[in-house]
Amino acid sequence: MRIARVSLGAAARGMTRQGDATAGQVGQPAPTPHGAASGRVYLRPPQRSDRAEFVALMRASRPFHRPWATAPTDDEAFDAYLVDSRRPDFEAMLVCRFEDRAILGFFNLSHITRGSLQSAYLGYAVGSTFARQGYMREAIELVLHHAFAGLRLHRIEANIQPGNDASIALARGAGFSREGFSPRYLKIGGRWRDHERWAILDEDWLARAAQLGLPTEP
Ligand SMILES: CC(C)(COP(=O)(O)OP(=O)(O)OC[C@H]1O[C@@H](n2cnc3c(N)ncnc32)[C@H](O)[C@@H]1OP(=O)(O)O)[C@@H](O)C(=O)NCCC(=O)NCCS
Repeated sequence: MRIARVSLGAAARGMTRQGDATAGQVGQPAPTPHGAASGRVYLRPPQRSDRAEFVALMRASRPFHRPWATAPTDDEAFDAYLVDSRRPDFEAMLVCRFEDRAILGFFNLSHITRGSLQSAYLGYAVGSTFARQGYMREAIELVLHHAFAGLRLHRIEANIQPGNDASIALARGAGFSREGFSPRYLKIGGRWRDHERWAILDEDWLARAAQLGLPTEP
């Protein structure tokens, strides 16, 4: 799964960027620039003031993420992630909990390609202390809503290593289908690793949403 550096192109797509000064006012849920919230979680872009919390979470989660994914685990990587977040082809979404506004994990849409592709890659990871509590299952529905209803993408691809049962369960449960197998596809932890190619199309998402009664309006 591509995780690398995470970023956001929200402003370029007409969404409101959340500035540090307005973020997370006490007693209120943080704004949801991705227009996305559900029962327990909401999505928002990363910001400078997240650095300490995000880096601490990802650093503590390193053994849990290995060998499936990498994420920013120091200040420099986080700052680079913020810089990337201004790029129009990258969309970063922190998964946050309404209850206490804790950062639980993240999703990113990378290599957003317009024109005749309208596609992107999806990467994600949860903080180890928040794993297996259904937060990512809730959040991925918000991500797909944002990707298809908000960004109007046509296809989202997730590349997952064989044996990454949690990630495969997450993708499959959200309506992704396994399209194929890519040998030695991605270098993670210094090794080229085989990946399965999972994807979901907008029409798959619409059909599933209709079946489950999920909202499809932007
Ligand atoms: C993949 C990942 C984000 C899932 O996070 P999570 O907090 O476990 O997700 P949830 O609790 O919302 O569960 C999502 C699904 O994964 C399943 N799952 C979670 N951990 C699992 C495990 N170890 N084995 C099998 N299934 C697992 C859950 O049962 C659930 O399936 P369901 O919806 O069919 O019931 C998390 O395991 C992670 O960050 N892994 C390391 C990084 C990584 O692999 N990133 C993706 C690279 S492709």
